[in-house]
Amino acid sequence: MTEYPEDVAGVGDERIVDSTALVTGSTSGIGRETALALGRLGAHVVVHGRDAEAGRAVVDAIEDAVNEGTAEFVRADFAQPDEVSRLAKRTREAAGDGGLDVLINNAGGYFREARLTDLGVEYTFHVNHLSPYQLTAELLDDLADDARVVTTASEGHRGDPIDLDELTAVDDFSSWRAYQRSKLANVQFAAELGRRLRDRDSAVTSNSFHPGAIPGSGFFRHLPGPLAAAAGGLGRLPFVTTPADGAATAVYLAVADEVADTTGRYFADRREKTPSTEAQDPRAQRRLWEASADLLGVDEPLAAADGSAGSDDAGGAGGSDDGAEATAE
Ligand SMILES: NC(=O)c1ccc[n+]([C@@H]2O[C@H](COP(=O)([O-])OP(=O)(O)OC[C@H]3O[C@@H](n4cnc5c(N)ncnc54)[C@H](OP(=O)(O)O)[C@@H]3O)[C@@H](O)[C@H]2O)c1
Repeated sequence: MTEYPEDVAGVGDERIVDSTALVTGSTSGIGRETALALGRLGAHVVVHGRDAEAGRAVVDAIEDAVNEGTAEFVRADFAQPDEVSRLAKRTREAAGDGGLDVLINNAGGYFREARLTDLGVEYTFHVNHLSPYQLTAELLDDLADDARVVTTASEGHRGDPIDLDELTAVDDFSSWRAYQRSKLANVQFAAELGRRLRDRDSAVTSNSFHPGAIPGSGFFRHLPGPLAAAAGGLGRLPFVTTPADGAATAVYLAVADEVADTTGRYFADRREKTPSTEAQDPRAQRRLWEASADLLGVDEPLAAADGSAGSDDAGGAGGSDDGAEATAE
């Protein structure tokens, strides 16, 4: 039997009652397992996705468990900025005066079609990066003092730098390139958020992680041709990585004491890992942050009060000071 993610993460005995967690994309896969785990630990969990029936099933599973966890479902399409704002509003109400303790930016996937959202942004980039950016920005004032923001990235982030001109076009579309770019954005976003929070002496942390390659997941079912077909069978094999395994690093980053002060880093298998050179580049991180605000037509979140760009030191994504460990691919 697969171990619970919270046990794999070494936090199975923690109690996080009185805390509120939003797990985006928790109607299935890694997000669902993360939401169930946080519910078992006692949190109030805001479950999110587009599939209301699946969302209600996750809420029921959390509330039927023996522990104190409670839950509610909020539907929001991440291709629609007004729906993201509604999710932020509902989460704010759920968190109340205590603030949001855990934000897991997990919703997303591999999308094969070449298309632009109504905002004129390439769909994969919008769903996988721009909406988590918008959601986080809208919730910044509602985070608990020691909140943790965790973003599901991928080893797939290793590839070309982000060409900002490609974000609003689908000429010569490559679904893999779009996915890779969005996951690079996830790592850069988490690092830049960590640095900007730290520059304000905030105790809120921001980290990203790779959940593992999970053949039984929704992600794999959307891959092109034979990969998707093979994945279904592979996913049923006992030794293969499962969504619950993938959730263990999310739960670890959201709950474990030893990472309470760790920020701007990238993880895999609950260990810090060095991301790509491009992912660590503070100038690229800042460019992405500013371009994301421009695409959404909003003021830059956490902008320096004096209008400067803030610190450029390598606080981000495994680039520096506390010995990121490079592990084999
Ligand atoms: N599985 C892997 O091998 C793997 C590897 C590396 C990284 N990842 C990353 O892990 C995350 C979760 O993947 P998964 O494998 O667990 O996938 P999954 O089972 O397909 O779950 C994806 C979740 O995201 C939600 N979602 C997708 N598009 C959305 C949209 N437009 N608006 C709102 N919600 C949306 C889905 O909700 P609805 O279906 O209810 O809309 C679902 O809850 C993704 O960010 C993926 O890139 C996965």
